[in-house]
Amino acid sequence: LILIVDFGSQVTQLIARRLRESGVYCEIHPFNKLDDDALRRLAPKGVILSGGPDSVTRPGSPRAPEALWTLGVPVLGICYGQQVMVAQLGGKVEPGAEREFGRAFVTIKAEDPLLHGLAPVGGREEVWMSHGDRVVALPEGFGVIGSSSGAPYAIIADPERRFYGVQFHPEVHHTPNGARLLRNFTHEVCGLKGDWTMAAYRDEAIEKIRAQVGDGKVICGLSGGVDSSVAAVLIHEAIGDQLTCVFVDTGLMRMGEADEVVSLFRDHYNIPLIHADESELFLSALEGVSDPEEKRKTIGRLFVEVFEKHAREVGGAKFLAQGTLYPDVIESVSVTGGPSVTIKSHHNVGGLPERMNLQLVEPLRDLFKDEVRALGRELGLPPAFVGRHPFPGPGLAIRCPGEITRDKLEILRKADAIYLDQIRRHGLYDEIWQAFAVLLPVRTVGVMGDGRTYDYACALRAVTSVDGMTADYYPFSHDFLSETATRIINEVEGVNRVTYDITSKPPGTIEWE
Ligand code: XMP
Repeated sequence: LILIVDFGSQVTQLIARRLRESGVYCEIHPFNKLDDDALRRLAPKGVILSGGPDSVTRPGSPRAPEALWTLGVPVLGICYGQQVMVAQLGGKVEPGAEREFGRAFVTIKAEDPLLHGLAPVGGREEVWMSHGDRVVALPEGFGVIGSSSGAPYAIIADPERRFYGVQFHPEVHHTPNGARLLRNFTHEVCGLKGDWTMAAYRDEAIEKIRAQVGDGKVICGLSGGVDSSVAAVLIHEAIGDQLTCVFVDTGLMRMGEADEVVSLFRDHYNIPLIHADESELFLSALEGVSDPEEKRKTIGRLFVEVFEKHAREVGGAKFLAQGTLYPDVIESVSVTGGPSVTIKSHHNVGGLPERMNLQLVEPLRDLFKDEVRALGRELGLPPAFVGRHPFPGPGLAIRCPGEITRDKLEILRKADAIYLDQIRRHGLYDEIWQAFAVLLPVRTVGVMGDGRTYDYACALRAVTSVDGMTADYYPFSHDFLSETATRIINEVEGVNRVTYDITSKPPGTIEWE
């Protein structure tokens, strides 16, 4: 076990992620939940001190447990963690005149196991620097093994005690060799083998779920997406039929999707499932609604009501399972501070746990999307399911601008299914973050055979993205686009024109509403 002491950096989870990627098991513990005893009980093979927003020069600012320094294990301090180390071991840290963030170059000054595979002595490494305060005097035993013009103590080491400190963030992608440095720390300095796997993660997660839930009943909302599916299968492995899933069918799903979810969970996995077919309710509530926010709010409100109604059918449930991922956790505690504008109101079951007095079970809270997919594969979920593109909660309602009718939804479903089929046939599905058809509220004139047509226009959207926050349109070939357009127009009655959306995000958003 490598212990990561969290001092509140926005990117602490990235440290954990980098370690997991190199096959090392780690746990993150907040600094204020760790004392000397807890530290000894954990018996880590090495400790990483994260960055954090505070200043060690402020009286009362966070520190590492004193016992850490005599435990006899390697310690790596990152940014604030480096300053904690210096301050606690008798060096000196001073408030910096200004905070400095961004790309910098560190010159390597000495050979060290921590720097294996990085630039040789005298060479330079690109790093993502972030400092407010600066180290001005090193504790005894320490030397400088890397420095930059702005940070003379960029990398410090006490090789005897195996204590290291870096002023930059090795865990972020902007430090190209950062993952190597962390791997050097765990493998070379701490001597770990890196043989930990997602299978082990699964077993640990199962143990944690059992410990949290005991013999209580858990309900889990299934959306058909990857996150809630993986959470459900994992929890079912842990506690079997103490879990009941609720799948609210809004009538706004894609072609065949509701059936797929039901047959996968009920028939294949044998997970107790309430299939709440509420399409009548949703579609009638949406009649005459064309404003995007009003659509979203209507769907969100109904969803919570319906979910609550069905969740109550599971008498005596104490827990609500959610497929919350790490990026959702960071976003929801985002410290940007400033007032932010609501671009689109996303719906979820927020508020429900309090109303129904349920505790949350969130077994994916530490993971990133691609790790959830790896866990899903580990749990034996079908590859096509695990690799699915994200699908928004309000479903096809926000891919059908203007008023929604059953007829329009049917046309959209057919066009969308052909489009996705084309993408799969051309082997492009996994290169794309998200692809879908949008049925435009416009009818245009066309000619088919000898006749005039007056039908809907349909737009196709496909984007690449790493996190959905920014996105670029996917550069399909002209052949692909024309073949797809031809198929849609020929096979879908009601569509006589196809366009391709080439807007990036920003300024566009991924969905049209
Ligand atoms: P936008 O359209 O804001 O979408 O660029 C970014 C990502 O979020 C998805 N999305 C949603 N997901 N509930 C969800 O669960 C929603 O209300 C919602 N709206 C957008 C969208 O599909 C894309 O992946």
